[in-house]
Amino acid sequence: MPKHTIVTMPGDGIGRVVMQEAIRVLDAAGFDALYLEGDIGWDCWCREGNALPERTIKLLEQYKVGLFGAITSKPKEEAAAELAPELQGKGYVYASPIVGMRQHFDLDICIRPCHTYKGNPLNFIRRGAQGEIEEPEVDVVIFRQNTEGLYCGVEWSHPEGIVYDALMSHKNFVKNFSRVPKEEIAVSTRIFTRRATERILRAAFEHAAHNGYKSVTLCEKPNVIRETSGMMYNMAKAMQKEYGAIELWNTNIDAQMMWLTKNPEDYGVIVAGNMFGDIVSDGFAGLIGGLGFACSANLGSTIAVFEPTHGSAPKYAGYEVSIVNPIAMIESACMMLDHLKEEALAVKIRKAIAEVILEGKVRTYDMMKMKGDRDVVKNGAASTRQMGDAIIAKVISG
Ligand code: NAI
Ligand code: MG
Repeated sequence: MPKHTIVTMPGDGIGRVVMQEAIRVLDAAGFDALYLEGDIGWDCWCREGNALPERTIKLLEQYKVGLFGAITSKPKEEAAAELAPELQGKGYVYASPIVGMRQHFDLDICIRPCHTYKGNPLNFIRRGAQGEIEEPEVDVVIFRQNTEGLYCGVEWSHPEGIVYDALMSHKNFVKNFSRVPKEEIAVSTRIFTRRATERILRAAFEHAAHNGYKSVTLCEKPNVIRETSGMMYNMAKAMQKEYGAIELWNTNIDAQMMWLTKNPEDYGVIVAGNMFGDIVSDGFAGLIGGLGFACSANLGSTIAVFEPTHGSAPKYAGYEVSIVNPIAMIESACMMLDHLKEEALAVKIRKAIAEVILEGKVRTYDMMKMKGDRDVVKNGAASTRQMGDAIIAKVISG
């Protein structure tokens, strides 16, 4: 019997391509696992009216660890039009399976590490005081609350009845919106709970404590969004007292997006709610090479799913020779290895990736700063497979 069972969910488009590379690299590193494929994504929606079938949920319930590629999502009307004819008009409504999965399993802690690989031509650079080029080393881990906040889905257009009455019970609503016709109002709520806020803050501080980071930066906006960001900030201040040596920094999301392009090396662990966590993690990802390098973990109390942050990139999905960068997916697999206490294998793979990047002989089109199309391989870019092969060669040679 293999030591681990992993539910793979390649999904759509390039999700399927990068998943293959991740599994090849895991095999080369000696990861002892059985892979069970779970159906997810666009085909499931079109054929069954459900992009996250119950059988996939059952697999995850049973085996607890998932490796996810990417899925294609489309707006409601387009989705409805692509449903199988026999399902049309039967009340099926498209919902994103990855958002659904996070909510179903309460995968409330999202971790997105962003660290610089030396030699990556996509690394952020800036000019120093003497005009010299500086390449600051980014080593940041973003902890993003994954299930609540602005993405909780509690929203109304044209609020009426008790919803409108509730809004009218707030003096600021009365002052600013009571004269606006109801049909011109749309409301999206931003709900934070103490339990989930405590869990994401705890995860951030624990990570800082165990990995030698000197600060946790709360990246919200407590001076303006007083109830939710304010609660999070107060809880963070109280929690910091348990972690004497680790400083708590408090930055506003807007200012943080400016500072991360000035002094990204100063930050360590960042913690934020759902929306701001999404924004700040994309910002930091841009400093270390973008979507081809951005990996993540979604952790609940019992189930964990690992995925690159990129989507299915449909325009590259049908290439006979795939050109996309598999590193984000392979890094996500490394996060899975850490979670499974197979840290030695994760170290081996990350070292292999670092060596390939530092050598600079094998670079996918994004690393070559090429516009993606079928010709990039002819023009010197590595294919997805060649990048996978280069990493595997380093894994094997140790
Ligand atoms: P995307 O992330 O799929 O692609 C955007 C662009 O980023 C691509 O055109 C490509 O230039 C680049 N890119 C992405 N991954 C790359 C890689 N591994 N290597 C090199 N370059 C890469 O986002 P887009 O185009 O906005 O969405 C496409 C589909 O993916 C949509 O249906 C969207 O809903 C879905 N999506 C799914 C996500 C998920 O499964 N978690 C996340 C984001 C989007
Ligand atoms: Mg995003």
